[in-house]
Amino acid sequence: MATNRTFTMIKPDAVANGHIGNILAMITNGGFKIVSLKLTQLTVADAQAFYAVHSARPFYGELVEFMSRGPIVAAILEKENAVEDFRTLIGATNPAEAAEGTIRKAYATSIGENAVHGSDSDENAAIESAFHFAGREQF
Ligand code: CMP
Repeated sequence: MATNRTFTMIKPDAVANGHIGNILAMITNGGFKIVSLKLTQLTVADAQAFYAVHSARPFYGELVEFMSRGPIVAAILEKENAVEDFRTLIGATNPAEAAEGTIRKAYATSIGENAVHGSDSDENAAIESAFHFAGREQF
């Protein structure tokens, strides 16, 4: 199961700018099945915990503030080769380097406010999915 699932968030910038529907359409048109979905908001403590791996980075404080400042959409997605294919669909972290046709090319405004998150490994996909969804919310 883990190998064909990934975790994503539509970040506060993209939610605030009204892009939920268009981004979900790009995700489903990209061949991903949504198996969990919710509109929620991270507390500061949630964001600190979710991004603990980045706690030594200079942008950590900014990242925590940004990710907790408004609602997000959290989702678990299913597709063969989900982690890698979803990272291709979202594009580079820095939207200036994101390829045409990617979600970040269309909707990200900066390297920090980059519209969407995608897990970087099967292991992190499972950890991040469990952070947001109980087992009975994963279909
Ligand atoms: P993501 O890859 O989803 O998870 C880590 C996040 O840290 C990344 O998206 C960006 O939102 C943020 N990030 C990465 N690099 C920088 C940076 N140089 N400055 C600010 N934020 C960053």
